[in-house]
Amino acid sequence: MTTPPVCDYEGSDYQQSFWEQGGREYEDRAEAIALKRMLPISGKLMLELGAGAGRNTPRYAGFERIVLLDYSTTQLIQAQEKLGHSSKYVYVAADIYRLPFRDRQFDAATMIRALHHMADAPKALKQIRNVLEPNAVFILEFANKLNFKSMLRYLLGRQKWSPFTLEPVEFVKLNFDFHPKAIRNWLGELGFSIEKTLTVSHFRLGLLKRIVPARLLAALDGLFQPTGRFWQYTPSVFVKARVGNLHDEGMGQIHANVPDLFKCPDCEGEKLENMMDHLHCPVCESNWAVRDGIYDFRERMK
Ligand SMILES: C[S@@+](CC[C@H](N)C(=O)[O-])C[C@H]1O[C@@H](n2cnc3c(N)ncnc32)[C@H](O)[C@@H]1O
Repeated sequence: MTTPPVCDYEGSDYQQSFWEQGGREYEDRAEAIALKRMLPISGKLMLELGAGAGRNTPRYAGFERIVLLDYSTTQLIQAQEKLGHSSKYVYVAADIYRLPFRDRQFDAATMIRALHHMADAPKALKQIRNVLEPNAVFILEFANKLNFKSMLRYLLGRQKWSPFTLEPVEFVKLNFDFHPKAIRNWLGELGFSIEKTLTVSHFRLGLLKRIVPARLLAALDGLFQPTGRFWQYTPSVFVKARVGNLHDEGMGQIHANVPDLFKCPDCEGEKLENMMDHLHCPVCESNWAVRDGIYDFRERMK
């Protein structure tokens, strides 16, 4: 199966350079406010897609178990260093376009700052939909092409692409901004209903960030976030969507045993055998490595 290219963060110091030393305290705090407004207080099994170094994971503490999925093992290793090796966290290296999970298992999922690397967003969203159980909550953050800055630049003739059209724009290789209506359409086609929309990062301006303390700016952002219900012109938008039960689907089984969560991403065989240092698929004979607490489904073992 061919899948779109992956924006590779292997070896990247993203968490440090972008968040810790990059002057992004305001954005981080504003996102925390939005997440708190959308997250269920508790739950069983959460899937964090494009988890990176686990910046947001402690915000999901009400869930019994959290599966952190990322393509980059270096990001997952940083997440392990931060969160530890307890049975609450499961670390999975895999491609969002080829999720290695059995259907209908998760009662919640989040995807923050990861859709914007998806060249085929509907394909990624379909994968996510498949692993969510009926009534599950999906919290999606996306980069918004219809933001004030892009509209202004377009109207002044300083930007070629239109922020008003529905197709995604690739502003840097494998970095995409999306139109809010396109996101709503895709989610609707997959049977999600949207329960809440919050606009985030209203004040992402260098000068403001330099003169107003991050905590205050984020609190102000929090006041404006609910206007996302009516219009969305910020660079970042959070959507809380819920899986409907359109096709009278049954619930998936809840698996206490971690290896039982998985399916083979190559042949979709659902009974992987636990060989301790790898998982074996008896259907297609592929083996998937388990190294230092990371289940690796990117490429089968040689
Ligand atoms: C901008 S970072 C965001 C990390 C984290 N969600 C945060 O907000 O701090 C995007 C993450 O998505 C991951 N990613 C990109 N494409 C992916 C794919 N196809 N499958 C899995 N992870 C992917 C990258 O490895 C990276 O860690």
